[in-house]
Amino acid sequence: MADNGIPLRRTLAANAVALAPSWGALAILYGAGELSGRSTLFAMAGIGLVTILLIQRYLNSLASFARFVGELSDEREPVMPRLSFAPATEELATAAATLSTGWRRQRASIDNLAASAQAIVDGLPDPLVSVDRQRRIVRTNLAAALLLGSSGGTERDVSTLLRQPQLLAAIDALLETGPDGNFSGPDQGVVELVLAGPPELDMVAHLRRLPRAAADGSLALIVLHDTTALRRAERMRADFVANASHELKTPIAGLAGFIETLRGPAREDAAARERFLGIMAEQADRMRRLVDDLLMLSRIEQHEHARPAADVDLTQVLRSVLDLLQLKASSRGVTVVLDIAPDLPRAVGDPDELTIVFQNLIDNAVKYARPSTEVRVIARPSGPERVTIAVADEGDGIPASHLPRLTERFYRVDAARSRQLGGTGLGLAIVKHVVNRHRGRLDIQSVPGKGSTFTVTLPAVRQA
Ligand SMILES: Nc1ncnc2c1ncn2[C@@H]1O[C@H](COP(=O)(O)OP(=O)(O)OP(=O)(O)O)[C@@H](O)[C@H]1O
Ligand SMILES: [Mg+2]
Repeated sequence: MADNGIPLRRTLAANAVALAPSWGALAILYGAGELSGRSTLFAMAGIGLVTILLIQRYLNSLASFARFVGELSDEREPVMPRLSFAPATEELATAAATLSTGWRRQRASIDNLAASAQAIVDGLPDPLVSVDRQRRIVRTNLAAALLLGSSGGTERDVSTLLRQPQLLAAIDALLETGPDGNFSGPDQGVVELVLAGPPELDMVAHLRRLPRAAADGSLALIVLHDTTALRRAERMRADFVANASHELKTPIAGLAGFIETLRGPAREDAAARERFLGIMAEQADRMRRLVDDLLMLSRIEQHEHARPAADVDLTQVLRSVLDLLQLKASSRGVTVVLDIAPDLPRAVGDPDELTIVFQNLIDNAVKYARPSTEVRVIARPSGPERVTIAVADEGDGIPASHLPRLTERFYRVDAARSRQLGGTGLGLAIVKHVVNRHRGRLDIQSVPGKGSTFTVTLPAVRQA
């Protein structure tokens, strides 16, 4: 009788062990003549039958218990079997179920911890890649996936993501072990690299070896830091200093040359002296303008975060600018037409700075207009709280490729022509900064051969 998968051998053995004492006692009684042979046989058969039945049910309970524990470890939610025939087994089963619930709870909290760790790593703004002892990728964060496209990333060599030889060499140095099995290289490093674009990015990789491998196998961390903007700012600063020095060098060299001439060959030549002094005054004026513009630019930049808040009468500003430029315009045969809407709201800003803006824009328009053409200055309300002022000329226009860089310091479409017209290439840079400070906008439209329109949009005073 073997049920529930209990081997027959074990069933027989259990029955033999259970029957041995009672059958032994009956045999002794029979031997002592206390029982007849018939009674002995009857008693043996009765006891045997009852014992076998009890043992069988007990074994069945044990088998159910074993099955229950098996199902618990399979992570199924098993039904507690009825184990009434084996009370001790029932308690064991309850204890096993409690154990399994606790174990499962711990397992869930470990999963949670792992998910939190990944969430923290994903929250880092800089791309992070971790590698194991064999330089295989173990973990990447979200920023790394976005930058390097590391989908389904782990288990591959890190060179599938980052190919820069100097970076790979630095990682190898970090993971290198000596003959004793201990790490022989540095435990951190910094490598500068360029990620091929577009857009091409300047990066600094910070490498660090962990004191010991993490549970997921991570041994070294690679954190990338984007330094493109920093590099660009550095380059711009260097360019700016070079440009400013160059702009000053030319008039200084001119002045020095004339001084030499006046001291030497032209010493007694009154006419030449007059002419040279005139040019020298022009050069000095040019240097003064340049320095004034540079100072103004740096002053505006310093205050760019603070928005000016005065009420500005734009009509008055535009009229005063026109008065200043009228002479220059008529000498070039250019007519400046003011077209101001009668209901033009006042602007929120700084009247002196806005004067500089329109002085620059109208000066450019007059300067780059063709002779005998019109420059139109059109001021209109725009929406409930804005006002736009457009300065349109009929000049040669600006090729589209130059438009994005036009407001950079010293940027000129035709440097020779601008210089000859007395320009420094700082005017539009100043305009851009002032407009930014006013939280306004500068739009440039130009059709080569037809003309250009520079449109400034400014916040207007809210009308009652
Ligand atoms: N209305 C315009 N038509 C054609 N080109 C223009 C016009 N306005 C500006 N530009 C181009 O943009 C360049 C930059 O203008 P910006 O006003 O900054 O410098 P500039 O006029 O040369 O010198 P500055 O204004 O410092 O005296 C000019 O050199 C010119 O090439
Ligand atoms: Mg200008």
